[in-house]
Amino acid sequence: MNDKNLLKFDKNHILHPYTSMIQPLPVSLAVSANGVYITLNNGKHLIDGMSSWWAAIHGYNHPALNKAIKEQLNSFSHIMFGGLTHKPAIDLIKLLSQLLPSELNKFFLCDSGSVSVEIAMKMAIQYYYNMGQSKKSKFLTIRNGYHGDTFAAMSVCDPITGMHSIFKNILVSQFFAKSPDCGFNEKWNEDYILDFKEILLKNKSDIAGVILEPIVQGAGGMRFYSPYYLKRVRELCDQNDILLIFDEIATGFGRTGKMFALEYPQVVPEIMCIGKALTGGYMSLAATITCSKIAEGISKNDGVFMHGPTFMGNPLACSAAIASIKTLIGSPWENRVANIENQLKIELMPINKMEIVSDVRVLGAIGVVELKKNVNIEKIQKKFIEKGVWIRPFGKLIYLMPPYIIESNELSILTSSIKEIIKSGDI
Ligand SMILES: Cc1ncc(COP(=O)(O)O)c(C=O)c1O
Repeated sequence: MNDKNLLKFDKNHILHPYTSMIQPLPVSLAVSANGVYITLNNGKHLIDGMSSWWAAIHGYNHPALNKAIKEQLNSFSHIMFGGLTHKPAIDLIKLLSQLLPSELNKFFLCDSGSVSVEIAMKMAIQYYYNMGQSKKSKFLTIRNGYHGDTFAAMSVCDPITGMHSIFKNILVSQFFAKSPDCGFNEKWNEDYILDFKEILLKNKSDIAGVILEPIVQGAGGMRFYSPYYLKRVRELCDQNDILLIFDEIATGFGRTGKMFALEYPQVVPEIMCIGKALTGGYMSLAATITCSKIAEGISKNDGVFMHGPTFMGNPLACSAAIASIKTLIGSPWENRVANIENQLKIELMPINKMEIVSDVRVLGAIGVVELKKNVNIEKIQKKFIEKGVWIRPFGKLIYLMPPYIIESNELSILTSSIKEIIKSGDI
């Protein structure tokens, strides 16, 4: 098949995310990826501004990650995790333990971010069930959140962007507080949490857990909020016997400037989800991590935790994750993320003055330009490709989260492409 026919076949038979099943948005044919460049079939090299949705923090085709997977492949690519274990899983958990608060000491390895959120929610529900409080089975969260596309995860996504109306007969209804209004650096005022507090106090006998993306709300709106909000959430959960779940699937592994966003408020949740950059974007792997209190509660009276994916603890994915974490901690990632942050601020902030722009914000290696109206994704994508960059906006948001290895001149090409395209007004 020539490339034209490959793309025709793709259009007719292969479903892509968040697009029509019969008239999908166009896709480009990628043939290779190396460092921060994605190469298309027409030979065009695109500078990657997306890290493949927060995941490819070291760029593509990384020698250390390639080597780790090849070596593991020579032993075995997968074995079931029921009744068997292996060194890649053990070494990975040892490494993760060094990076996380010591209270988080029980790790469940699973296949994707959404599944890790399902597991976190099951853990919270099963904990209270086993403690004789089965009424506590709902969750409180904030608007503009995103936690994945499976049903339980969807139930705690923003009701509008999560399209709750379509699934209303099947989605569990959860509690939603206003999205925090306090910017990352804003002075704390107790009013910021009043709505959340009121809902929590009114419904605490039904609530098993609060689930939040700490500091950065990702796909639900790319919003940043104050660490104080999280400190207050922790206090309210403690005072009212409610578990706290942090979804660090997007924020984990340095993206916000800290290894994990929980380091900003110095708050430890009972349950935490990680994924995406866990394997440096190489393979699908996620983890739900909890503490002794939850493990002991669930296990009381011979209770067992009811989950076990076929590809649990996949050794190839664990090997990639070990290599990715070692590559990260062996690199000057804090400097790199700080440099990206500074440069994004310098180069993106002036866009704020443009008529069609409603806000520009930067935190860590994340830069967001929010427009006053939705972009035409098909049109804007084509323009970005013509400019030699891979940037995939959604709704009103044009955003960058490049691999940490990006060079300053490459990052400038990303930011100037955004500037030029917005300036043209034809979006
Ligand atoms: C914060 C957050 N939680 C959960 C998910 C779902 O992860 P996955 O796409 O691996 O299922 C995502 C994915 O974008 C995410 O950003």
